[in-house]
Amino acid sequence: MVKSLLFLHLLFAIVWIGGMVYSLLFLKPSLKELAQEEQRHRFLKSVLSRFFSAVWLSLLVLFLTGMGLWHGYRRDFSDNPLFHAKLFLFALMTLVFVYLYFFLFRRGRLSQVPNLVAVNLILGLLVLLIITYIS
Ligand code: HEM
Repeated sequence: MVKSLLFLHLLFAIVWIGGMVYSLLFLKPSLKELAQEEQRHRFLKSVLSRFFSAVWLSLLVLFLTGMGLWHGYRRDFSDNPLFHAKLFLFALMTLVFVYLYFFLFRRGRLSQVPNLVAVNLILGLLVLLIITYIS
């Protein structure tokens, strides 16, 4: 049970953080290849709507599997300050994503989306750094 929770947890951490790396380092620079602005906007909207659906699922799975791992396996985390820093960063990443999704993406303000994706990528990398040091 714990192994399958950890597998799902790792898988959706990779989907979210990997997806942010892909969209910033590979998708965004290549968008310039599309000549017309209207074409670029339509293509980006189509890619982001699929990725953001996966992010909503990642948020849910990371939270549920994380709670399962915490209360079912690593109760010692309850007084581990690094773990609480991880939860704080996860909450911050969730707030940034909720703002990005409802106030930028859903309103078609796509040009500002990459900046907030970059913020969440930095926070996600900080989470991975913290996990490296959590014993
Ligand atoms: C951006 C969000 C998150 C990322 C990238 C992430 C990533 C990871 C990774 C890579 C591991 C495996 C570490 C290891 O095997 O040593 C892990 C384990 C764990 N995560 Fe998360 N996690 C996230 C959110 C959460 C949340 C929200 C919770 C709690 C509600 C949580 C609770 C845990 C627990 C309890 C473990 C088990 C640690 C262990 O195996 O010793 N995580 N997480």
